[in-house]
Amino acid sequence: MEKRVVAINGDGIGREIVSAARRVVDKAVAKDNIVIHWAEHKAGGEAIDTYGEPLPQSTIDACKVADAVLLGAVGGPKWDAVNPAIRPEKAILGLRKALGLFCNLRPVRIFKALQDYSPLKPELVQDVDFVIVRELTGGIYFGERLEATGEGADEVAWDKETYHRYEIERIMEVAINTAKQRKGKVTSVDKANVLASSRLWRKVAQEKATANPTVAFDYLYVDNTAMQLVVNPGQFDVIVTTNLFGDILSDEGAVVSGSLGLLPSASIGTGTALYEPIHGSAPDIAGQGIANPLGTILSAAMMCRHSLEAPNAAAAIEKAVEDVLAAGYRTGDIYKAGMKKVNTEGMTEAILQYIK
Ligand code: IPM
Ligand code: MG
Repeated sequence: MEKRVVAINGDGIGREIVSAARRVVDKAVAKDNIVIHWAEHKAGGEAIDTYGEPLPQSTIDACKVADAVLLGAVGGPKWDAVNPAIRPEKAILGLRKALGLFCNLRPVRIFKALQDYSPLKPELVQDVDFVIVRELTGGIYFGERLEATGEGADEVAWDKETYHRYEIERIMEVAINTAKQRKGKVTSVDKANVLASSRLWRKVAQEKATANPTVAFDYLYVDNTAMQLVVNPGQFDVIVTTNLFGDILSDEGAVVSGSLGLLPSASIGTGTALYEPIHGSAPDIAGQGIANPLGTILSAAMMCRHSLEAPNAAAAIEKAVEDVLAAGYRTGDIYKAGMKKVNTEGMTEAILQYIK
């Protein structure tokens, strides 16, 4: 079988981690008799430099007809001063919107070998295994906004949080289906004690709970959730929440698990799905060949499972990551004395070797 995947390197460490993941996927998909045709397209800062805009139509068009998109990371200080309308981040937001990717899945789990890397006590994190289901094309990220206008103390800016019933219903469906394949529990997170949009969110969540009696639902405010994630992260199975709250809670979830560098994500919806690590472009270490490629490699594993009909490849990649960590290979971000320190290339080679 042949599959077409668009690779978007993006900025900073993007190129290094995407090429590492491509090598791993190319080897692993052979297990499922698949050959991947990669096409590189630009987005983010590199697209601003080349085309004067962060998300050229040619990139959108290529993604639309592909089987999947693998993205590194976008953004960096080089583009901090550009007009907000064409910031590199607009590329990711624009792609999510253009491809109808209303749902972002962020699985948070502990690798045994990294259990003591969490800032939390080992006994708190040993059972951590949850998925954040983040709404991705609505809410304050895509609401109306006003960039700062006016003078002096009256200078003002605002962003509007909006949710429609259909947006909440479809994300709840994903959360419920995800929970049914896991431990059967959904925690819906909102700020219904203050926000009208959150009250609608909770109302719809409660209706869905009634309609799905085999799934256990609970409802938490986002501030309480942020606290629960550090006092008892093992309680969660599926967390479903809004775009903004999901952005914040997923970074928190990631460090709870030990390292931001290891967390993958899948954005799914009505069009081609997009896979990317949750970390950023790390401009401080870009070009040095020392970035941790595992978040992208694990995102590529999700891509194999959900978009490329390559479940054996997905399992093999995930097992290889587990084994390589257990064998003590560590990039700088997760290095501790006594471990085998490797760069991006060394880590990639180790993973390739472990893919049987
Ligand atoms: C993420 C990132 C993005 C977001 C940025 C880069 C726009 O933080 O995927 O979590 O806020 O969604
Ligand atoms: Mg984020």
